[in-house]
Amino acid sequence: MTKTTAAITAVSGWVPDYVLTNEELEKMVDTNDEWITSRTGIKERRILKGEGLGSSDLAVNAINLLLEKRGIGAEEIDLIICATATPDMMFPSTACIIADKIGAKNAFGYDLMAACSGFLFSVATASKYIETGTYKKIVVVGADKMSSIVDYEDRQTCIIFGDGAGAVLLEPDTEGFGVQDSILKSNGEGRHYLKMEGGGSVNPASYATIDAKQHYIHQEGQTVFKFAVKGMADVSEEIMKKNNLTGDDIAWLVPHQANKRIIDATANRMGVGTDKVMLNISKYGNTTNGTIPLCLWEWESQLNKGDNIILAAFGGGFTWGSIYLKWAYDSK
Ligand code: UT7
Repeated sequence: MTKTTAAITAVSGWVPDYVLTNEELEKMVDTNDEWITSRTGIKERRILKGEGLGSSDLAVNAINLLLEKRGIGAEEIDLIICATATPDMMFPSTACIIADKIGAKNAFGYDLMAACSGFLFSVATASKYIETGTYKKIVVVGADKMSSIVDYEDRQTCIIFGDGAGAVLLEPDTEGFGVQDSILKSNGEGRHYLKMEGGGSVNPASYATIDAKQHYIHQEGQTVFKFAVKGMADVSEEIMKKNNLTGDDIAWLVPHQANKRIIDATANRMGVGTDKVMLNISKYGNTTNGTIPLCLWEWESQLNKGDNIILAAFGGGFTWGSIYLKWAYDSK
């Protein structure tokens, strides 16, 4: 019997128009372009402005473009998985809100929360539904309005994050393309170093949680950095070894865009040259679940059928992992 794999058959992205530059941040907190550029690789990020707009709106723009590119209607979607750390609200899920906004009347959906690794975990999850023949058209969207939880008085975090969304369509493939393997990891010991404590069941929103700034991201940057460098490099090396791949076999590394220094360390360990690393952190900063699909979207025209691609991510939890996939179509 022919094996069914889950292939990405379309990719799209969407970022808001408003550009928050390093120069503008210099006026908001005690920082400077030189520090931000040399420590993170970030020059600017996008911010979603406007009353009543949330992560679902970023996602809807990305998914509408995705459907248009693939030439299918929203009613053909079986499942929407929304990877987000900034859901529109605690419930209902952002995936349900997206389904309503795009008219995906025949889809079910849910959110998947794994901080910055959410998109990766979602693709791995979706691929199992496809491989088992359960569903045929799955949209995985990574969408985050990070500006809604960033403290613009905290110079260590506000320089990093931006808003954006990217989406992929996963469909069955019988020629061997698509997701080949995944390694996913989490370790709750890391939960102290990157978190947003307010608004959950332990610390429901109150004047006290607001006063304590618990509705904002809290990050111990150096600690997260250390774990991220090791975690992302280790897991990328592990998936290469498991699949007998060397650096020369890899066409592209698609890393989560948190800090250029973390990305460089991962590429170095994998033996992958910088010319094979997708990097758009300078333009968008860290869009959390948006980073990986936004890269795929921007590099799509350079991808060829059969290309070996490694996706890698690291985020709060800690969560981390990598996916090995074979690109399924020529984009030109
Ligand atoms: O995506 C989810 C996972 N998240 C990550 O992977 C993020 C990981 N962490 C990082 O990317 C980095 O730790 C940061 C970019 C957050 C910080 O960079 P760093 O090189 O680790 O800086 P640091 O925290 O060690 O601070 C070095 C110095 C400190 O000054 P002193 O104590 O040496 O005088 C900070 O106060 O830089 C200072 N500093 C700044 N200076 C100018 C911290 N933030 C800033 C800033 N502008 N924005």
